[in-house]
Amino acid sequence: MNSAAILPNSRTGARVERLPLSRFTTLGVGGEAEIWTLQGHAQLHEAMSAPYRILGGGSNLVVADEGLSERVIRLGGEFAATDLEADPQLSTSEQLVTGWVGGGVPLPGLLRKLQRLGYSNLEGTVGIPAQLGGAVWMNAGTRFGEAFDGLHSLEIVSPEGTRTVTPAELPWSYRDSGIPRNHIVTRVRLKLRPSTPELVQEKMDAADVARKGQPKNRTPGCAFKNPTLPSGERLGAGKLIDEAGLKGSRVGNAMIAPEHANFIVNLGGASAADVHALLALIRSRVGVDMQLEYELWP
Ligand code: FAD
Ligand code: EPU
Repeated sequence: MNSAAILPNSRTGARVERLPLSRFTTLGVGGEAEIWTLQGHAQLHEAMSAPYRILGGGSNLVVADEGLSERVIRLGGEFAATDLEADPQLSTSEQLVTGWVGGGVPLPGLLRKLQRLGYSNLEGTVGIPAQLGGAVWMNAGTRFGEAFDGLHSLEIVSPEGTRTVTPAELPWSYRDSGIPRNHIVTRVRLKLRPSTPELVQEKMDAADVARKGQPKNRTPGCAFKNPTLPSGERLGAGKLIDEAGLKGSRVGNAMIAPEHANFIVNLGGASAADVHALLALIRSRVGVDMQLEYELWP
């Protein structure tokens, strides 16, 4: 049984605890690590002074059963604050640019607020259980839109310093922001289009319908990105895994979901090793080269 160990706070006051990452991942898998929960910018430098990883909503992660040697940085405090006021310098009647929204803000709650205000551009990402920073870092999306649809600029912090960039300065694409690993998306200004709550809700409903066939169990979402052939044709990873006859395949307590073959689910008590074995099975049976969407830690 893992137990939480509260360690002395850091020099700058970040909360430091040794906890199992299974508590922080949607898959519910992962051993212990030293978790640094930051309240503000003043704690970033110290937190990044030793090898680290950044944890968002934990919704795309398969963390090793043995845990991690690196510290894990979580964004709380001012990084979880939301300022949706229009910036008068940058906003026009067609485009509304907000104040800063923290990278640690949960995406579902943010989308709910935007819908109530009738602000459009990000609603295609409905149903993604990420934090804003994590959704931006991997440009999470659906057929109805992606995180980069609603970004005006981002603040990125790394041991080399802090910079503010616009999407035009990043080589972003499908499920990829082009932001280097371990550069922290600390906060974001959103670029939104004034609409109405009803119209934004309609678009959310359409994106929700496309999720009806996805499993309800604990999972980190789709295992593989949809591959693109040299001809430019985009294939469905789920369809390919399904056609390989792998739906319902089980290793330990992890299973390829019978509802949608690109999801691996935890039936209760699955280990990271179980998930790795299923990923290897898929790779050995699907003839097309597919890029992993899950992040394997370490
Ligand atoms: P985490 O899983 O915590 O981390 C993922 C990566 O992002 C790590 O490299 C981490 O270091 C990095 N990261 C996290 N926060 C930051 C930050 N602030 N700055 C820099 N790097 C950071 N994804 C889709 O794209 N479309 C979907 O439709 C979708 N549906 C899903 C449905 C379910 C039920 C689940 C469980 C997952 C789904 N996902 C989907 C996968 C997942 O939600 C996305 O990959 C999401 O972007 C992960 O964000 P996160 O905040 O949870 O990041
Ligand atoms: N299909 C099968 N068998 C399966 C799964 C799918 O035949 O087991 C078929 C479906 O019948 C459909 C086609 O494949 O004809 C596409 O399936 P779906 O509509 O579910 O879309 P997808 O391409 O599998 C993508 C994203 C999801 C996102 C949905 C909805 C990727 C890798 N996946 O799924 O994103 O939620 O569209 O917009 O791009 C994620 O990235 O984690 C994720 C869940």
